[in-house]
Amino acid sequence: MSLAAGQFPRLLAGMPPEGFLPLAAHEALHGPLPLSGRSRSRTEHPLILELERAGVRGYGGAGFPTATKLHAVATQGARPTIVVNGAEGEPLSGKDVLLTGRMPHLVIDGVLAAASTLGSDRVIFALDEEVRGVARVLQQALAQRPELQRRGAPAVSVNAVPGGYLSGQETALVSALGGGWAKPTTTPPYPFERGIKGVPTLVSNSETFAQIALVARHGADWFRALGTTNDPGTRLITVSGAVSYPGVVEVAGGTTLRQLISASGGLTEPIQGVLLGGYAGTWLSPDDLELRLDAHALRERGLRLGSGIVVLLPASACIVAEVSGVARWLEQESAHQCGPCIHGLQAIADALEELCGGGDRRGAYTRIERWCELVVRRGACSLPDGAATFVASALRRFRPVFDDHARHGACDLCRAERVLPIPAFDAVPVR
Ligand SMILES: Cc1cc2nc3c(=O)[nH]c(=O)nc-3n(C[C@H](O)[C@H](O)[C@H](O)COP(=O)(O)O)c2cc1C
Ligand code: SF4
Repeated sequence: MSLAAGQFPRLLAGMPPEGFLPLAAHEALHGPLPLSGRSRSRTEHPLILELERAGVRGYGGAGFPTATKLHAVATQGARPTIVVNGAEGEPLSGKDVLLTGRMPHLVIDGVLAAASTLGSDRVIFALDEEVRGVARVLQQALAQRPELQRRGAPAVSVNAVPGGYLSGQETALVSALGGGWAKPTTTPPYPFERGIKGVPTLVSNSETFAQIALVARHGADWFRALGTTNDPGTRLITVSGAVSYPGVVEVAGGTTLRQLISASGGLTEPIQGVLLGGYAGTWLSPDDLELRLDAHALRERGLRLGSGIVVLLPASACIVAEVSGVARWLEQESAHQCGPCIHGLQAIADALEELCGGGDRRGAYTRIERWCELVVRRGACSLPDGAATFVASALRRFRPVFDDHARHGACDLCRAERVLPIPAFDAVPVR
């Protein structure tokens, strides 16, 4: 029986306790995939119009409207390449590995629907080279798809890209898949104009393709039956820190942080803050638990969900040591090719370590604040912007703790096991 409009969960519906959902079970749940084909006017293709009505926005971090992106690629006048961004370079995220490894047919459906709409002749699934099990699952699932055996089907490959925070940045990914370094390149041209081998390229996140699949099968009204007007549908959130069951949770748009914590088994200990949006995100207060995870409302307040990340920082962690460790890691992960990373991020990480060790003689705190303002919008990619948001919001939110370190040096909690992972994140269990 097909999934009803208000039925929950959607993306993770039918997920077996182990392994991946086979094609027959997937089709029993969602019905056959309608492939409408490349229309004469690709810019007014029914799927693009339906995605616009559904209000789908990318789930890779930036939240860009998916219909606008497909439309931009469609108007380039060539057969575009499609890249499924499953690099998942954010250490706090586990949703793309989960979705591709356990529900691969949903992701493949979205890719097939987009390829049919755009007339694509090439599809590349880009995965972190260190997550080999997912590549095997994907190969098995692709081999089950009759659509890919037909004449005129796009050529599909599963490509490993180097692990690392930057690999999933779209121009870095396009460069790596084209045989270059996994480093961001200057824009324009954007990948949708000139991507892999100069061909217009659609780069979208794995979860975005799964959402495209839901809209292609069930339509915009069905999609909007869950979530809020401005953040329709459901999304995957990776929850970690002081909760009983850290892992990936599916929630409808507008769910409160408190409800999310409850879906993760509740808090295991008192918390001192909440990190929203990962290593490019913002620190909130423990009093913010009624905040609604509505991407649109969050954007209006200058907040972001990023790729869907929430960390509940326990009171037993040292925020100064945590932030300092992540700032150093981000500086080292940067491509060291633009001023804000070479000078700014390195200086911020140095000064944070100085603060952490009780060395505020040269006004480390003020310098960090100033540098966080200076690095924004100065790089070829937004890594420094995200790092500055992460550090500056910690300084604002936890000022007394930073002041205390500046005066007295490391605290007892500085030696506690870190909550924020650097650099690798063990496989995320599922809720
Ligand atoms: C430093 C950095 C790292 C990124 N890493 C990823 C990633 O691992 N996976 C991903 O889907 N998008 C990542 N992005 C966002 C991509 O550049 C791009 O916006 C996204 O893949 C577009 O897909 P969407 O429209 O489906 O969200 C990253 C961006 C930046 C600035
Ligand atoms: S801003 Fe930093 S991470 Fe981004 S391209 Fe420049 S050096 Fe690399």
